[in-house]
Amino acid sequence: MSLPSWAVVTPERRAHIERVVTLLSTWAEARRTPDGERARWVKAGWLHDALRDAPAADELAHGPMAAERAARHGESDRGVLDAVRYHSLGYTGWDEVGKMLYLADYLEPGRAFDRELRASLAARVPHDRDGVLQQVAARRIARVIDDRWPLVPETVDFWNSLVGS
Ligand SMILES: [Fe+2]
Ligand SMILES: [Fe+2]
Repeated sequence: MSLPSWAVVTPERRAHIERVVTLLSTWAEARRTPDGERARWVKAGWLHDALRDAPAADELAHGPMAAERAARHGESDRGVLDAVRYHSLGYTGWDEVGKMLYLADYLEPGRAFDRELRASLAARVPHDRDGVLQQVAARRIARVIDDRWPLVPETVDFWNSLVGS
């Protein structure tokens, strides 16, 4: 698989997407994930930012836009579509695909910040996925708060589900 034909991405974005897909494949291998499930993770990786550089896309809109376009082009896997739709926010209804994509999007090695910490978290994912998921969500949500952006209900519910409330 590769980027969908309808993708609108800069070369930098494409490189990010490729690193996300590579990380998802690495984790699938390390966790001995069956091929069918691994293919779902990889598909979500290719789709998640496919419209990030389209004219109407912004931080909030690009996930839902990509999920809707993928569905129109025949994608019917609910877990894949929800992974793509909510990848910036978190979502309590996610299956494995959504959780793994949320982790890979943040932990892929090309991002410039906190390289060592993120690399060590990425290495822990195969044996401590849920522990790392909590840490990554805490860091992503702290960033939203630091920047004085509002937290959407999906994100609040996602966080509460991770801490067991
Ligand atoms: Fe994104
Ligand atoms: Fe991304």
